[in-house]
Amino acid sequence: MAMIKVQKGTKDILPTDMPVWHFMEEKASEIFTKYGAKEIRTPIFEATELFARGVGDTTDIVNKEMYTFEKSERSLTLRPENTAGVVRAFIENGMHRLPAPVKLWYKGPMFRYERPQAGRQRQFHQVGVEVFGIKQPTADAEVILMAVNYLKALGLNDLSVEINSLGCPDCREVFKTNLKSVLKPYLQDLCPDCQARYEKNPLRLLDCKVPECKEIYSKPEIKAVIQSDFICKDCAEHFNELKAYLDNLGIKYSINKLLVRGLDYYNRTVFEITSNNLGSQNAVCGGGRYDSLVKNLGGEDVPAIGFAMGMERLASLIEQKEENKTTTFIVCNNMTEAVKLTEELRGNGVTAEFDLTNKKFVKQLEKASKVAKYALILGEDEIAQNCVTVKNLETSEQKTVKRSQITTIF
Ligand code: HAM
Repeated sequence: MAMIKVQKGTKDILPTDMPVWHFMEEKASEIFTKYGAKEIRTPIFEATELFARGVGDTTDIVNKEMYTFEKSERSLTLRPENTAGVVRAFIENGMHRLPAPVKLWYKGPMFRYERPQAGRQRQFHQVGVEVFGIKQPTADAEVILMAVNYLKALGLNDLSVEINSLGCPDCREVFKTNLKSVLKPYLQDLCPDCQARYEKNPLRLLDCKVPECKEIYSKPEIKAVIQSDFICKDCAEHFNELKAYLDNLGIKYSINKLLVRGLDYYNRTVFEITSNNLGSQNAVCGGGRYDSLVKNLGGEDVPAIGFAMGMERLASLIEQKEENKTTTFIVCNNMTEAVKLTEELRGNGVTAEFDLTNKKFVKQLEKASKVAKYALILGEDEIAQNCVTVKNLETSEQKTVKRSQITTIF
């Protein structure tokens, strides 16, 4: 019969991968908790409208990449990202009444129907943080600091932090108008995607990867508009304060005026952290401020900022970790005694296994040396004398201890 294979763009996370995944998850809990963040888990599917309104219906994510299906005449979508879901939960659970800032962190699978390639999957995992209730740039600095310190805790280096300010809707309007007017003569030469973006979301033009478009955007008169300081006084002040905080914290960053991010909810600060050790999909972290999203999704006027990181990309940068061997393997032909000892060890927090098929002693010892650190030999002599022979399988050292003392030595 034909074998059924894993779906394109998805992957099994195997037991051998698990030490790295546990490491990423434990460090996330440890680091984010230190900053006062609490974990939240939201459903994997939500109303399609949440993403259309939240992420934005001019984005590639909403237009091309969503896994949408109908059930009982409702349109549902597997979450392509988790900011919209967390905002929905924030509103629905009245979290704006909690003392600000409300800091939430999450981990879990996301789904985007993208063309799979190295570093880009259709089901991938994110770990992320969302901070609600602070409009001052101190929150922007703290969120970037959290991301940087998490990556440091994972032992990752050779990373670059890029920041930009998208301004507020008012100053962005001026920028869009200027950009459209210098680009007008070249409109016919732009790729079909850019022609659509020109009408719907001109800011996203800057993100285009098509060489012909990139060439147009590097023309002096267009570059001048892109590089211009279009943001208004208040937005500029916010950005300058953020830069000063980052300088004080010793966080190195560069300003990338082309950084616009692929989601519609951002205003003011956006940032990305890239790794110099990944291929073309080199962003390990993306984030930014989204001061209008809570209100746009029906909540109070609550400013917010956050980020998310791709865990598969992080995992590929983390050194492979040794799989933990079982601590003890009981070598014994008396099943009753074997079960009793394993359960006693497990009850005392020691990982323990025994041979469920009751093979010969030598075979059991062979198995023990493959899977465990210690073999606990319980032969007829040991049972008669109420003791256990403990063999260290790395050094082959062996000693016999009293049965009653066995749980105290691991
Ligand atoms: P994003 O830039 O779309 O932002 O995704 C964040 C990170 O998720 C990326 O930098 C990348 O590491 C990873 N990622 C995204 N798509 C894929 C994929 N197809 N395969 C593998 N990894 C991927 C967001 O999702 C925003 N919700 C971040 C945010 C939180 N902004 C504010 N708060």
